Amino acid sequence: MYRALLTKAIRPLQPRFTALPPAFRFNLSATHPFSSASFPSNLDHSQSPAAFISDKRYGKAHTGDEIMSFIDRYQRNEVKDYQMSAWLMAVCLKGMTPNETAALTKSMVMSGDIADLTDVPGISVDKHSTGGVGDKISLVLAPLVASFGLVVPMMSGRGLGHTGGTLDKLDSIPGFSCDLDMDNFKNILRTVGVAMISPAGDMAPVDKRIYALRDVTSTVRAIPLQTSSIMCKKLAENPESLVLDVKFGSGAFNHEVEESIELAKSMVEAGEGDNKPTTAFITSMDEPIGWAVGNWNEIHESIQVLSNDENPLSADLLNLVVVQCGQMLLQGGVASTLQEGITMAKENLKNGKALAKFHEMVEAQGGSLEAVKNPTNYPSAKHSIEVISTRSGYVTAIDALAIGLVGVDLGAGRKFVEDDVDFTAGIELRKKTGDKVEEGDVLAVLSTNRDGVGEVGKQKVEGAYKVDEEAPSPTKLITNVVRKGGVVEDFDESMLQ
Ligand code: URA
Repeated sequence: MYRALLTKAIRPLQPRFTALPPAFRFNLSATHPFSSASFPSNLDHSQSPAAFISDKRYGKAHTGDEIMSFIDRYQRNEVKDYQMSAWLMAVCLKGMTPNETAALTKSMVMSGDIADLTDVPGISVDKHSTGGVGDKISLVLAPLVASFGLVVPMMSGRGLGHTGGTLDKLDSIPGFSCDLDMDNFKNILRTVGVAMISPAGDMAPVDKRIYALRDVTSTVRAIPLQTSSIMCKKLAENPESLVLDVKFGSGAFNHEVEESIELAKSMVEAGEGDNKPTTAFITSMDEPIGWAVGNWNEIHESIQVLSNDENPLSADLLNLVVVQCGQMLLQGGVASTLQEGITMAKENLKNGKALAKFHEMVEAQGGSLEAVKNPTNYPSAKHSIEVISTRSGYVTAIDALAIGLVGVDLGAGRKFVEDDVDFTAGIELRKKTGDKVEEGDVLAVLSTNRDGVGEVGKQKVEGAYKVDEEAPSPTKLITNVVRKGGVVEDFDESMLQ
């Protein structure tokens, strides 16, 4: 029935993708004449791949044209995987300047389709998170921002390893489809203002090949490569502005806050270099966000927050949502300060507008309203296992990485891209850092349909919880804001009161 409604509501249009604007900043020539998202035909390819690699090996900065030529030839298989691998390692060892990183990002964008949202009325603003455990922020944030009339064209990914994926969570809503083509995506943006889908079109295809090489050549962790890989996909989606959530801590890609600030500066620079106002928040991923880690249970928690159902276990989720919403409202011209944006965000959670927008989005994407209006009616997993505290005191830490990995063992996440995900599997945290516990209290509840994994999972979750006599000293959830020009500010958490 929802499918029928969806097709009825959608007016077919031709999909439109465009090339990047021909003018570039940095070292790229200002006159590349391209009419589609492809590399210009008159690029100078005279530098051999070996000479290009050698330049980086000896620490020389490439020009934008040299980088574009190398990526263009790689896409046409004239530069081989072994040459790309050697260059990636040289980048890890010698680094890249901000101009080089911007040129690499843009070259990767040019390897595929670029969404054209010019025929979608309204101001578009998107958000990206570097990923974490229990990270369901987008599920609340996207409809909340759209409830103010901004357009949120969100393309997300699936989970792999200890981090979950927004698309897997949305897939747990019966009937919900994330696989919309560009026509349907844009029609929902026109009518509802928000849609959350898997990347439509062939966006930044060269990133997939380069990422696969980085994965097996120990070249994943290098700020210029991380920046270009993350930002090329966001820039190909082509929103007018961007807010980034760059995480640090045990469950994040980068464990140290300093490393995350460096990544954020580089990502902000890449966004701003493409004329998209970009701001990053540096946020802690030392413990899972909120109380739910899984798929359907994360939808359930998101619905609670959208319903203004105050749960102290979701306070971190709520704070992350309202701050990022406040910034998106500021960048979209709806609020005049971040503080005003935060106040407005809280208001639309209270007055039901954000929840109504979530319902509209679910319906437009074919999902069951019945399921999201009655989340407790969802089927449960076969096994439910309680993790009991063996001592009294205070929770002083919950290792996000360990919890995320148990989630995978229970069936909520993937070890390999081809693995299936069990929507009912997951972990419910009953205690969070700072909470007082008595011996015998339930710390967490595991859910799984897999036989024989519960006992090991229980021991691992018990190990992930640190319970001490002394209450922990408070730490900041949002430590910094990173703005254009490499400006790093301390985040003032009094804005959340
Ligand atoms: N996510 C990506 O897409 N690429 C990276 O390099 C790191 C995280």
